[in-house]
Amino acid sequence: VKKSDVVRAILPLHLRKEPAQAQGLAFAPTNIALVKYWGKRNTELNLAYTSSLSIALPDQGALTKVNLHEGKQDQVVLNGNEIANNTEFFKRIAEFLNLFRFQSAWHFNIDIQMNIPVAAGLASSACGFASLTLALKDLFAWPLRFQELSILARLGSGSAARSLWQGFVEWHSGASADGMDSYAEPLTATWPSLCVAILAFSDQAKPISSREAMQATVNSSALYQCWVQKATHDLALLKQAIHNQQFPLFGGTAESNALNMHATMLSSWPPICYFLPATLAAMHEIWSLRQQGLELYFTEDAGPNLKLLFLEKDASAVKQHFPQIEVLRVFE
Ligand code: DP6
Repeated sequence: VKKSDVVRAILPLHLRKEPAQAQGLAFAPTNIALVKYWGKRNTELNLAYTSSLSIALPDQGALTKVNLHEGKQDQVVLNGNEIANNTEFFKRIAEFLNLFRFQSAWHFNIDIQMNIPVAAGLASSACGFASLTLALKDLFAWPLRFQELSILARLGSGSAARSLWQGFVEWHSGASADGMDSYAEPLTATWPSLCVAILAFSDQAKPISSREAMQATVNSSALYQCWVQKATHDLALLKQAIHNQQFPLFGGTAESNALNMHATMLSSWPPICYFLPATLAAMHEIWSLRQQGLELYFTEDAGPNLKLLFLEKDASAVKQHFPQIEVLRVFE
């Protein structure tokens, strides 16, 4: 099954035609996985081995404009700067756009505004491909359901499948070969006192992309099967913690899940390590604060930065220990 087969199934011939308006515009929030997606059962379609669950950051993400233009090739502008066509970023976007180039002479003009550090493990590809998918839907006026849009966004980046909604979102791994059962949907539960903060140590691009790193983990870690079992178990625990609003179970499950993902990466060969010395120092500080009674937990993606998880009641205490953070209220 190819990406183009999936697009043909979702967009039948009568929908593969001219734009309905001059420009499409859409915003998509970035998301932080609390139970991670790490490893694909199908690399062409970005089908995950396990289901995952994330939380959206309401005001942080990507605002994308798309239109067809007269030029001889696609043009991608990120935060006001034109992206060179030999970069990985450009190639991934152009490859995604090929799926929607219903006439070979069409070239797209894409303008993305992101208010998060790009490629620093802050899910820039997630909100980028999610907002591009929504902007294309706007441009062509496709009458699609969110389930189908989630499948299309996944073809750009797995985690983008989850970036179409606010709040808690679960991406079902699905089991079918064509991935038509592999899409995300929002949970109805909210948690108004929940806070998130990004503890940033570096905005440098990561040494190895999450795409390559997860594939290397699947191929070389002897622990990979354990990760699959652990992630499956954590998802059930996390949903229970959200349902019952049990914060220590919530934070503990998210933190343990992230550490298990990184442990699995470390057990790959050659080893994959996103920790910087500052990352480890902050972990030790968080563990010591927790021993002193502060309900503070973290998660970490494919980069050195930590994302802190805590409740409103502890926001000022957390800010006292980490003055550089901005406290984000997820359900505001
Ligand atoms: C650590 O979605 O960026 O953030 O599907 O290859 O584009 P591709 O990977 P990507 O990986 C995200 C990995 C993660 C965990 C997560 O978001 O679930």
